[in-house]
Amino acid sequence: MTAQQRQELVRRIDSQGDPHRGQLIYRRQELNCIQCHAVSGAGGNVGPDLSGIGVNSPTEYLLDSILLPSATIKEAYLTRQVLTGDGVVVRGVQIDRDDQRLILRDENGREVVIPIDDIEQESEGKSLMPEGLHQLLTQAELVDLVAFLGALGKPGEFAVHSRPTINRWDALVEIPSGIRWGELTDPQFAGQFESLPDAAWQGVYSLVDGSIPADAIPAQFRERSVGPALLRGQIEVVVAGPIGVRVDGASDARVVIDGRRVEPDGAIELKPGRYPVYLLISDPADVQSLTTEVTKPSGSPAQVTVLGGK
Ligand code: HEC
Repeated sequence: MTAQQRQELVRRIDSQGDPHRGQLIYRRQELNCIQCHAVSGAGGNVGPDLSGIGVNSPTEYLLDSILLPSATIKEAYLTRQVLTGDGVVVRGVQIDRDDQRLILRDENGREVVIPIDDIEQESEGKSLMPEGLHQLLTQAELVDLVAFLGALGKPGEFAVHSRPTINRWDALVEIPSGIRWGELTDPQFAGQFESLPDAAWQGVYSLVDGSIPADAIPAQFRERSVGPALLRGQIEVVVAGPIGVRVDGASDARVVIDGRRVEPDGAIELKPGRYPVYLLISDPADVQSLTTEVTKPSGSPAQVTVLGGK
Protein backbone atom coordinates (compact mmCIF):
# COMPACT_ATOMS: atom_id res chain seq x y z
CA MET A 1 0.00 0.00 0.00
CA THR A 2 1.40 3.42 -0.92
CA ALA A 3 1.42 6.28 1.57
CA GLN A 4 -1.32 7.93 -0.45
CA GLN A 5 -3.57 4.85 -0.41
CA ARG A 6 -3.06 4.62 3.32
CA GLN A 7 -4.04 8.28 3.76
CA GLU A 8 -7.13 7.66 1.67
CA LEU A 9 -8.05 4.66 3.83
CA VAL A 10 -7.62 6.72 7.00
CA ARG A 11 -9.96 9.34 5.56
CA ARG A 12 -12.53 6.66 4.77
CA ILE A 13 -12.31 5.25 8.30
CA ASP A 14 -12.86 8.69 9.83
CA SER A 15 -15.71 9.67 7.53
CA GLN A 16 -17.54 6.42 6.77
CA GLY A 17 -16.44 3.82 9.32
CA ASP A 18 -19.33 2.34 11.32
CA PRO A 19 -18.26 1.20 14.80
CA HIS A 20 -21.43 -0.88 15.28
CA ARG A 21 -20.67 -3.00 12.24
CA GLY A 22 -17.03 -2.94 13.33
CA GLN A 23 -17.89 -4.46 16.69
CA LEU A 24 -19.52 -7.44 14.97
CA ILE A 25 -16.43 -7.92 12.82
CA TYR A 26 -14.22 -7.71 15.90
CA ARG A 27 -16.23 -10.58 17.40
CA ARG A 28 -15.77 -12.93 14.43
CA GLN A 29 -14.33 -16.22 15.46
CA GLU A 30 -11.84 -16.55 12.60
CA LEU A 31 -10.12 -13.28 13.51
CA ASN A 32 -9.51 -14.31 17.13
CA CYS A 33 -9.30 -10.71 18.35
CA ILE A 34 -11.25 -11.66 21.51
CA GLN A 35 -8.98 -14.62 22.26
CA CYS A 36 -6.01 -12.26 22.57
CA HIS A 37 -7.50 -8.93 23.68
CA ALA A 38 -9.86 -7.97 26.48
CA VAL A 39 -12.46 -5.20 26.31
CA SER A 40 -14.22 -4.27 29.56
CA GLY A 41 -12.33 -7.03 31.31
CA ALA A 42 -13.56 -9.85 29.05
CA GLY A 43 -11.21 -11.61 26.66
CA GLY A 44 -7.67 -12.92 26.46
CA ASN A 45 -4.47 -11.41 27.82
CA VAL A 46 -2.00 -12.24 25.07
CA GLY A 47 -2.30 -8.68 23.76
CA PRO A 48 -3.10 -5.37 25.50
CA ASP A 49 -6.56 -4.57 26.89
CA LEU A 50 -8.31 -2.46 24.25
CA SER A 51 -11.05 -0.89 26.43
CA GLY A 52 -9.66 2.64 26.10
CA ILE A 53 -7.60 2.28 22.92
CA GLY A 54 -9.67 4.84 20.96
CA VAL A 55 -9.09 7.71 23.36
CA ASN A 56 -5.48 8.52 22.55
CA SER A 57 -4.73 6.54 19.42
CA PRO A 58 -4.82 8.25 16.03
CA THR A 59 -6.59 6.33 13.27
CA GLU A 60 -3.25 5.71 11.49
CA TYR A 61 -1.88 3.96 14.54
CA LEU A 62 -4.92 1.69 14.87
CA LEU A 63 -4.84 0.84 11.19
CA ASP A 64 -1.13 0.02 11.35
CA SER A 65 -1.68 -2.18 14.41
CA ILE A 66 -3.60 -4.49 12.09
CA LEU A 67 -1.67 -4.02 8.84
CA LEU A 68 1.83 -4.13 10.37
CA PRO A 69 1.66 -5.61 13.88
CA SER A 70 5.42 -5.79 14.28
CA ALA A 71 6.11 -2.18 13.23
CA THR A 72 5.33 -0.75 16.66
CA ILE A 73 5.27 -3.24 19.51
CA LYS A 74 4.55 -1.96 23.00
CA GLU A 75 7.45 -2.61 25.32
CA ALA A 76 5.57 -5.05 27.52
CA TYR A 77 4.78 -7.16 24.44
CA LEU A 78 8.24 -7.43 22.92
CA THR A 79 8.99 -11.05 22.19
CA ARG A 80 11.96 -13.40 22.18
CA GLN A 81 12.35 -16.17 19.65
CA VAL A 82 14.25 -19.22 20.73
CA LEU A 83 15.49 -22.29 18.87
CA THR A 84 15.89 -25.27 21.17
CA GLY A 85 18.24 -28.24 20.91
CA ASP A 86 15.41 -30.35 19.42
CA GLY A 87 14.92 -27.85 16.62
CA VAL A 88 11.71 -26.42 18.09
CA VAL A 89 11.07 -22.69 17.68
CA VAL A 90 9.28 -20.94 20.55
CA ARG A 91 8.19 -17.32 20.33
CA GLY A 92 6.68 -15.44 23.22
CA VAL A 93 6.76 -12.58 25.66
CA GLN A 94 9.39 -13.04 28.35
CA ILE A 95 7.70 -13.67 31.69
CA ASP A 96 10.75 -14.57 33.71
CA ARG A 97 14.36 -15.56 33.29
CA ASP A 98 17.21 -16.69 35.51
CA ASP A 99 20.38 -18.68 34.85
CA GLN A 100 18.42 -21.95 34.86
CA ARG A 101 15.41 -21.30 32.65
CA LEU A 102 13.54 -18.86 30.45
CA ILE A 103 9.73 -18.59 30.63
CA LEU A 104 7.87 -17.30 27.59
CA ARG A 105 4.12 -16.72 27.14
CA ASP A 106 3.16 -17.81 23.64
CA GLU A 107 0.35 -16.69 21.32
CA ASN A 108 -2.10 -19.09 22.98
CA GLY A 109 -1.44 -17.57 26.39
CA ARG A 110 0.50 -20.68 27.47
CA GLU A 111 3.65 -20.36 29.53
CA VAL A 112 6.53 -22.34 28.09
CA VAL A 113 9.55 -23.13 30.27
CA ILE A 114 12.83 -23.53 28.38
CA PRO A 115 15.99 -24.67 30.21
CA ILE A 116 18.78 -22.18 29.40
CA ASP A 117 21.10 -25.10 28.47
CA ASP A 118 18.62 -26.10 25.79
CA ILE A 119 18.75 -22.77 23.95
CA GLU A 120 20.64 -23.00 20.64
CA GLN A 121 19.78 -19.58 19.28
CA GLU A 122 17.90 -16.62 20.59
CA SER A 123 16.79 -13.36 19.01
CA GLU A 124 14.20 -10.63 19.21
CA GLY A 125 10.91 -11.94 17.82
CA LYS A 126 8.00 -10.50 15.90
CA SER A 127 4.71 -9.45 17.47
CA LEU A 128 2.48 -12.24 18.72
CA MET A 129 -0.31 -10.55 16.83
CA PRO A 130 -0.63 -12.41 13.52
CA GLU A 131 0.24 -10.63 10.29
CA GLY A 132 -2.26 -10.62 7.48
CA LEU A 133 -5.47 -10.52 9.53
CA HIS A 134 -6.69 -7.79 7.16
CA GLN A 135 -6.56 -10.34 4.35
CA LEU A 136 -9.56 -12.02 5.95
CA LEU A 137 -11.51 -8.77 5.52
CA THR A 138 -12.86 -6.70 2.67
CA GLN A 139 -11.68 -3.10 2.66
CA ALA A 140 -15.12 -1.95 3.85
CA GLU A 141 -14.89 -4.38 6.78
CA LEU A 142 -11.41 -3.14 7.67
CA VAL A 143 -12.75 0.43 7.65
CA ASP A 144 -15.53 -0.51 10.10
CA LEU A 145 -13.24 -2.56 12.32
CA VAL A 146 -10.78 0.32 12.74
CA ALA A 147 -13.68 2.74 13.35
CA PHE A 148 -14.78 0.44 16.18
CA LEU A 149 -11.28 0.47 17.72
CA GLY A 150 -11.27 4.26 17.42
CA ALA A 151 -14.57 4.50 19.32
CA LEU A 152 -13.42 2.32 22.22
CA GLY A 153 -13.29 4.30 25.43
CA LYS A 154 -14.74 7.50 23.98
CA PRO A 155 -17.93 8.83 25.56
CA GLY A 156 -20.98 7.05 24.18
CA GLU A 157 -21.87 3.47 23.49
CA PHE A 158 -18.33 2.15 23.49
CA ALA A 159 -17.18 3.93 26.64
CA VAL A 160 -15.73 1.99 29.54
CA HIS A 161 -18.75 1.66 31.80
CA SER A 162 -18.48 1.23 35.51
CA ARG A 163 -21.47 -1.06 36.04
CA PRO A 164 -20.19 -4.48 37.17
CA THR A 165 -21.77 -6.51 34.37
CA ILE A 166 -20.61 -10.07 33.80
CA ASN A 167 -19.14 -9.87 30.31
CA ARG A 168 -17.55 -13.27 29.93
CA TRP A 169 -19.54 -16.49 30.19
CA ASP A 170 -19.13 -20.14 29.44
CA ALA A 171 -22.15 -21.85 27.92
CA LEU A 172 -22.50 -25.56 28.62
CA VAL A 173 -22.59 -27.15 25.16
CA GLU A 174 -21.95 -30.79 26.09
CA ILE A 175 -24.80 -31.46 28.40
CA PRO A 176 -24.22 -34.43 30.75
CA SER A 177 -26.55 -37.25 29.76
CA GLY A 178 -29.51 -37.95 31.96
CA ILE A 179 -29.59 -34.51 33.50
CA ARG A 180 -33.04 -33.43 34.72
CA TRP A 181 -32.94 -29.69 34.91
CA GLY A 182 -36.25 -29.38 36.71
CA GLU A 183 -35.11 -31.59 39.56
CA LEU A 184 -31.72 -30.03 40.07
CA THR A 185 -31.53 -28.42 43.51
CA ASP A 186 -29.40 -25.34 44.11
CA PRO A 187 -26.72 -27.14 46.16
CA GLN A 188 -26.31 -29.68 43.35
CA PHE A 189 -25.00 -27.08 40.89
CA ALA A 190 -21.51 -27.11 42.34
CA GLY A 191 -21.07 -30.88 42.20
CA GLN A 192 -22.74 -31.30 38.81
CA PHE A 193 -20.80 -28.78 36.79
CA GLU A 194 -17.52 -27.97 38.48
CA SER A 195 -15.80 -31.17 37.39
CA LEU A 196 -16.74 -31.00 33.70
CA PRO A 197 -13.81 -30.65 31.25
CA ASP A 198 -13.18 -27.29 29.57
CA ALA A 199 -14.32 -28.77 26.27
CA ALA A 200 -17.86 -29.04 27.64
CA TRP A 201 -18.09 -25.23 27.67
CA GLN A 202 -18.03 -22.60 24.95
CA GLY A 203 -17.01 -18.98 25.55
CA VAL A 204 -19.68 -16.31 25.21
CA TYR A 205 -18.71 -12.62 25.27
CA SER A 206 -20.87 -9.58 25.79
CA LEU A 207 -20.83 -6.49 23.62
CA VAL A 208 -18.92 -3.47 24.98
CA ASP A 209 -22.13 -2.24 26.69
CA GLY A 210 -22.30 -5.45 28.74
CA SER A 211 -25.20 -7.08 26.89
CA ILE A 212 -25.06 -10.51 25.27
CA PRO A 213 -26.77 -10.44 21.88
CA ALA A 214 -28.99 -13.40 20.97
CA ASP A 215 -26.59 -14.65 18.32
CA ALA A 216 -23.75 -14.98 20.84
CA ILE A 217 -25.69 -17.75 22.56
CA PRO A 218 -24.63 -21.06 20.95
CA ALA A 219 -26.91 -21.92 18.03
CA GLN A 220 -28.13 -25.20 19.53
CA PHE A 221 -29.99 -23.27 22.24
CA ARG A 222 -31.75 -20.99 19.82
CA GLU A 223 -33.91 -23.91 18.72
CA ARG A 224 -36.92 -24.33 20.87
CA SER A 225 -36.57 -28.10 21.32
CA VAL A 226 -33.23 -28.10 23.07
CA GLY A 227 -34.27 -26.99 26.53
CA PRO A 228 -32.54 -24.75 29.03
CA ALA A 229 -29.16 -23.09 28.53
CA LEU A 230 -26.69 -22.99 31.40
CA LEU A 231 -24.23 -20.10 31.49
CA ARG A 232 -21.37 -19.77 33.96
CA GLY A 233 -19.63 -16.52 34.83
CA GLN A 234 -17.11 -15.85 37.58
CA ILE A 235 -16.81 -13.32 40.35
CA GLU A 236 -14.29 -12.70 43.08
CA VAL A 237 -15.50 -11.41 46.40
CA VAL A 238 -12.73 -9.31 47.94
CA VAL A 239 -14.63 -8.02 50.97
CA ALA A 240 -17.44 -10.14 52.44
CA GLY A 241 -21.04 -8.96 52.43
CA PRO A 242 -24.42 -9.47 50.79
CA ILE A 243 -24.56 -9.31 47.02
CA GLY A 244 -27.31 -9.70 44.47
CA VAL A 245 -27.51 -10.34 40.73
CA ARG A 246 -29.82 -8.53 38.32
CA VAL A 247 -30.64 -10.25 35.05
CA ASP A 248 -32.26 -8.23 32.27
CA GLY A 249 -33.61 -9.96 29.21
CA ALA A 250 -34.45 -13.42 30.56
CA SER A 251 -37.37 -13.07 32.93
CA ASP A 252 -37.22 -16.54 34.43
CA ALA A 253 -33.46 -16.93 34.77
CA ARG A 254 -32.39 -18.90 37.80
CA VAL A 255 -29.22 -17.62 39.45
CA VAL A 256 -27.16 -19.89 41.72
CA ILE A 257 -23.94 -18.95 43.53
CA ASP A 258 -22.23 -21.13 46.10
CA GLY A 259 -25.10 -23.64 45.95
CA ARG A 260 -27.62 -20.95 46.89
CA ARG A 261 -30.39 -19.30 44.90
CA VAL A 262 -30.13 -15.56 44.33
CA GLU A 263 -33.71 -14.27 44.00
CA PRO A 264 -34.35 -11.39 41.55
CA ASP A 265 -34.49 -8.72 44.24
CA GLY A 266 -32.68 -10.67 46.91
CA ALA A 267 -29.09 -11.00 48.03
CA ILE A 268 -26.90 -13.67 49.57
CA GLU A 269 -24.01 -13.25 51.97
CA LEU A 270 -20.68 -14.27 50.47
CA LYS A 271 -17.27 -14.68 52.07
CA PRO A 272 -14.11 -13.63 50.21
CA GLY A 273 -13.15 -16.01 47.41
CA ARG A 274 -13.86 -16.90 43.81
CA TYR A 275 -17.29 -18.16 42.86
CA PRO A 276 -18.87 -19.43 39.66
CA VAL A 277 -22.17 -17.67 38.93
CA TYR A 278 -24.64 -20.07 37.29
CA LEU A 279 -27.44 -18.74 35.15
CA LEU A 280 -30.04 -21.25 34.02
CA ILE A 281 -32.25 -19.88 31.25
CA SER A 282 -35.29 -22.02 30.58
CA ASP A 283 -36.21 -20.49 27.21
CA PRO A 284 -32.98 -19.40 25.54
CA ALA A 285 -34.76 -19.16 22.18
CA ASP A 286 -36.71 -16.19 23.59
CA VAL A 287 -33.64 -14.19 24.61
CA GLN A 288 -33.04 -11.04 22.52
CA SER A 289 -30.34 -9.48 24.62
CA LEU A 290 -29.15 -10.46 28.07
CA THR A 291 -27.41 -8.27 30.64
CA THR A 292 -26.32 -9.55 34.03
CA GLU A 293 -25.09 -7.17 36.68
CA VAL A 294 -23.72 -7.79 40.14
CA THR A 295 -25.53 -5.58 42.67
CA LYS A 296 -25.15 -4.70 46.33
CA PRO A 297 -28.05 -3.96 48.67
CA SER A 298 -27.65 -0.47 50.12
CA GLY A 299 -25.23 -0.49 53.01
CA SER A 300 -23.56 -3.72 51.94
CA PRO A 301 -19.81 -3.56 52.58
CA ALA A 302 -19.17 -6.22 49.89
CA GLN A 303 -16.48 -5.60 47.30
CA VAL A 304 -16.79 -7.75 44.21
CA THR A 305 -14.72 -8.04 41.04
CA VAL A 306 -16.15 -9.64 37.94
CA LEU A 307 -13.64 -11.99 36.31
CA GLY A 308 -13.46 -12.10 32.56
CA GLY A 309 -10.33 -13.95 31.48
CA LYS A 310 -10.24 -16.12 28.44
C1 HEC B 1 -2.56 -14.14 18.74
C2 HEC B 1 -2.95 -12.97 19.48
C3 HEC B 1 -3.54 -11.77 18.82
C4 HEC B 1 -4.60 -11.72 17.96
C5 HEC B 1 -5.37 -12.87 17.34
C6 HEC B 1 -4.87 -10.32 17.73
N1 HEC B 1 -3.98 -9.56 18.42
FE1 HEC B 1 -3.89 -7.53 18.46
N2 HEC B 1 -2.18 -7.61 19.53
C7 HEC B 1 -1.61 -8.75 20.05
C8 HEC B 1 -0.38 -8.39 20.74
C9 HEC B 1 0.56 -9.37 21.45
C10 HEC B 1 -0.25 -7.01 20.65
C11 HEC B 1 0.88 -6.14 21.25
C12 HEC B 1 2.08 -6.14 20.37
C13 HEC B 1 1.87 -5.37 19.13
O1 HEC B 1 1.60 -4.15 19.22
O2 HEC B 1 1.92 -5.97 18.05
C14 HEC B 1 -1.40 -6.54 19.88
C15 HEC B 1 -1.65 -5.21 19.58
C16 HEC B 1 -2.85 -4.73 19.07
C17 HEC B 1 -3.23 -3.34 19.00
C18 HEC B 1 -2.40 -2.17 19.52
C19 HEC B 1 -2.71 -2.05 20.99
C20 HEC B 1 -1.99 -0.97 21.73
O3 HEC B 1 -2.29 -0.79 22.92
O4 HEC B 1 -1.12 -0.30 21.16
C21 HEC B 1 -4.48 -3.30 18.45
C22 HEC B 1 -5.33 -2.05 18.19
C23 HEC B 1 -4.88 -4.66 18.16
N3 HEC B 1 -3.86 -5.51 18.54
C24 HEC B 1 -6.08 -5.02 17.60
C25 HEC B 1 -6.40 -6.33 17.23
C26 HEC B 1 -7.58 -6.69 16.45
C27 HEC B 1 -8.65 -5.73 15.98
C28 HEC B 1 -7.51 -8.04 16.26
C29 HEC B 1 -8.46 -8.91 15.46
C30 HEC B 1 -8.60 -8.52 14.07
C31 HEC B 1 -6.31 -8.53 16.92
N4 HEC B 1 -5.66 -7.46 17.49
C32 HEC B 1 -5.90 -9.85 16.96
C33 HEC B 1 -2.09 -10.03 19.92
C34 HEC B 1 -3.15 -10.40 19.10
